[in-house]
Amino acid sequence: MKPIQIHDKNFEVYIDRDKIQQAVSSLAQQLKKDLKGERPLFISILNGAFIFAADFIRAYKSECEITFIKLASYEKTKSSGKVKQLLGINEDLTDRTIIVLEDIIDTGTTLQEIYKILGEEKVKDLKIVSLFFKPEVFKKELHIDYVAFEIPDNFIVGYGLDYDGLGRNLPDIYKLSK
Ligand code: IMP
Ligand code: MG
Repeated sequence: MKPIQIHDKNFEVYIDRDKIQQAVSSLAQQLKKDLKGERPLFISILNGAFIFAADFIRAYKSECEITFIKLASYEKTKSSGKVKQLLGINEDLTDRTIIVLEDIIDTGTTLQEIYKILGEEKVKDLKIVSLFFKPEVFKKELHIDYVAFEIPDNFIVGYGLDYDGLGRNLPDIYKLSK
């Protein structure tokens, strides 16, 4: 497939939409099985996880609720090391089964902030689901329950993920061309 240009960089297709859909469906089915009839409250981390969350909850064939929290740590193609909370949660999380839906876990800085925010709540259960995970860059000792794709330290865009604001609407996942 033809490479595409976003801002100043070239990207090539890395994971196509069918492969993503298959992975999202099997992850949703696995989670439903593991939750054994619990009704989860999904928390999707904006902006990046919005498309993953939309597909994931439609593949989750059981009662569930969803809410959103907005965190930002990335500047262009690098983690800034600091996480800003731009939108909070209004729901009461007490005694709830909370499932965090994240697009990608890179250094783990954002995940650490998620644990910090949710650690202050008296939840019944907390699980972390991430579509992508970069084990080579992950620097934290934090638990991640479900990952669809472990990827090398490549910068990716599409399916909700952006490069400096652009590329979120691409249906496939692209990686930076070397
Ligand atoms: P972390 O805090 O370093 O783990 O980075 C997590 C956040 O940075 C993700 O939720 C994404 O929003 C963003 N991010 C990390 N890696 C990538 C990437 O390869 N492409 C686009 N965004 C990324
Ligand atoms: Mg994210």
